[in-house]
Amino acid sequence: MNLENIKRDDIDVYNIIESELFRQRNTLELIASENFTSKSVLEAVGSVLTNKYAEGYPGRRYYGGCEHVDEVENLAKDRLKKLFKCEYANVQPHSGSQANMGVFLTFLNQNDTVLGLDLAHGGHLTHGSKVNFSGKIYNFYSYGVSKENHRVDFDQVAKIAKKIKPKLIICGGSAYPRFIEFEKFKEIADSVNAYLMADVAHPSGLIASGLHPSPFPHCDVATSTTHKTLRGPRGGIILLGKDFKNKWGKIAPKSGRIKNVSELLDSSVMPGIQGGPLMHVIAGKAVAFKEALSNEFKSYCQNIVSNAKALEQAFLSLDYDLVSGGTDTHIVLIDLTKNNISGKKAEFELEKVGITTNKNMIPFDERSPLVTSGIRLGTPSLTSRGMGNDEMKIVAKLIDEILTNKGNEYKYEKVKNHIAELCNSFPLYNK
Ligand SMILES: Cc1ncc(COP(=O)(O)O)c(C=O)c1O
Repeated sequence: MNLENIKRDDIDVYNIIESELFRQRNTLELIASENFTSKSVLEAVGSVLTNKYAEGYPGRRYYGGCEHVDEVENLAKDRLKKLFKCEYANVQPHSGSQANMGVFLTFLNQNDTVLGLDLAHGGHLTHGSKVNFSGKIYNFYSYGVSKENHRVDFDQVAKIAKKIKPKLIICGGSAYPRFIEFEKFKEIADSVNAYLMADVAHPSGLIASGLHPSPFPHCDVATSTTHKTLRGPRGGIILLGKDFKNKWGKIAPKSGRIKNVSELLDSSVMPGIQGGPLMHVIAGKAVAFKEALSNEFKSYCQNIVSNAKALEQAFLSLDYDLVSGGTDTHIVLIDLTKNNISGKKAEFELEKVGITTNKNMIPFDERSPLVTSGIRLGTPSLTSRGMGNDEMKIVAKLIDEILTNKGNEYKYEKVKNHIAELCNSFPLYNK
């Protein structure tokens, strides 16, 4: 990393960045929503494009001097459309939450009824949590997973949908280890004349690689983050498989014609919720989308899934309970109820030796969201370092060593040494 200017001009920030690089290099990153971008993505995000104001969209900006940022935004959009085989893409949302906000502003009015996956069953804050704008502005109801197999309970989804008649149904979440069954959601959405939105923030890289079903043609609209399995910079995107006329008869003022949903989405993002786009991040997105179109990325995603399967098998053989019994994706959610340790404590103890995870609610959790009975693990970051199935078996054993020997300094030291060896064997950002 070339940080010579910061080192000279601002030693405080330089030291913080160096410390974070050291942490990333010398710990095992198992947070399912994180990844390590390529150096090319880092360079784009650190480029002079951060200097440019470009409110509006390519060819119709509110500022002059936009010819080059227009090019990079168009490139990002074209690559993204190719990646998901879709007709429309918006690459401006600053985050996954803002992508969701852009969709809600397009499809909903204040107090409209929406149905999404319960946060405790794997949903996301923006799917109706009372402490989030979604739960404050819209009338959200939740569906959950079944007690037996922890898969979405479609009988329940259909029953609630029939009763509340939502305008929008959301599928997808942040801690659901199984495939999202878009077709089943579509059947229910059609039966109550609701729009269907997929939030594929987590599996989007796997979808792009054909390893997870695609939301299209079943969903009307999809959102994602760009920084999880997609391995891009931090940000959001909105996609339409096919553009369509809006049902609400919103008229374009000059032509008098009914607007397409794509136009409404564009104006919901800007000027609806954002001002100037982060052009340096959009350039980083363009770089990441090119990478994601490559065969190497497909192999990388195959390794992510195969590593998650290896973790699944290793934990099952160590007699751990896994939510839904395992995984189809990059996520493994461990239910620690029978292990006599909370998610919070497990996260804390693992962090002491350099294994980074996050506490997570499990379905029907009796503990609060700040304590929880589970930890969520994900394989994108370790896979980016080049680790494979053998290393996943070791990682599961190291986690087990800590969880079964809480506070045993001797064991902790041994695990730390093992982690140092692993990190040295799979160096990060060394070339
Ligand atoms: C399913 C889902 N949607 C939306 C988001 C929000 O993304 P961001 O943190 O970029 O706002 C996340 C982030 O974890 C997520 O998992």
